[in-house]
Amino acid sequence: MTSPAPVVLAFLDPAFPDGRFADASQPQLLVTDQGATRGDGIFETMLAVGGTVRKIQAHLDRLTGSAGALDLAIPGEDEWRRAITAAVSEHRAQHPPASATDDELVVKLVVTRGVEGASTPTAWVQVSPAGAAGRRQRETGIDVILLDRGYDSDVAERAPWLLLGAKTLSYAVNMAALRYARKQGADDVIFTSSDGRVLEGPTSTVLMAHVETSDDGTSVKRLITPLLDSGILPGTSQGALFAAAKAAGWELGYGPLEPQDLLDADAVWLISSVRMLAPVNRIDGKEIGTPSVQKELTAELNELFAGIQ
Ligand SMILES: Cc1ncc(COP(=O)(O)O)c(C=O)c1O
Repeated sequence: MTSPAPVVLAFLDPAFPDGRFADASQPQLLVTDQGATRGDGIFETMLAVGGTVRKIQAHLDRLTGSAGALDLAIPGEDEWRRAITAAVSEHRAQHPPASATDDELVVKLVVTRGVEGASTPTAWVQVSPAGAAGRRQRETGIDVILLDRGYDSDVAERAPWLLLGAKTLSYAVNMAALRYARKQGADDVIFTSSDGRVLEGPTSTVLMAHVETSDDGTSVKRLITPLLDSGILPGTSQGALFAAAKAAGWELGYGPLEPQDLLDADAVWLISSVRMLAPVNRIDGKEIGTPSVQKELTAELNELFAGIQ
């Protein structure tokens, strides 16, 4: 039997400025917590490398945005930062990394609407080691299937109560889509809208690239992602990588994208904070791009992404 990954848990609590540490192997939530009874809450998942959380401000900003969409009063940024620093340090003290290349921790921030009848949200930071599967997929790439999410691309604006641009705890649908893909022999999913637009992965943003080489031998590289207003989560990784790619001379583009655009691309990736850039090898069984071009572009973007703090 494999033992569970070691988790450090710190609740945000005004009486404990650096977080109230609790035993993650013991029950800690009341059964009436609306995070458990309704999936009513929000979260962020971040990556700490060498003890430093990457893109922390972008994650805290998105957490604030999600809280606004759910009318949820959440702890302030300073409280989060103190609890995050303390929890990451505690994890590294309890479980020192085996090697510098194995020094990745997943830092999750969770806020629920709290117990039924009370008005205080429940909020915590949870730190655990990054799994090997994500790291492997960065290297090997992934096979993806397209799945219809069942909404059209205008729904986010028409029906804001669907909370499509917020990172809510209601991820059962996203996890079901991943299980569905695995039953089909695929690794991951790209959702499409009912009107045929490319949206996002269940836990990632879609990126694609085109390389155009002109007669004089100069080449223009263009990085493209679906339009945000189609009801997708604004990815902190996509935002940071776009800024770095622009500074490195890439051109940037924003959808609307259709599945054929992905099939015609020189390379496609799913990007997210923990797995980072996962190159897409096949979509619905069809090979994407040319392996050598994909490899070269992936190496270049990986280097840009690794440089982001
Ligand atoms: C639906 C969805 N889209 C995109 C992302 C990527 O976001 P980020 O790059 O901030 O990790 C995630 C991350 O979990 C997600 O759940």
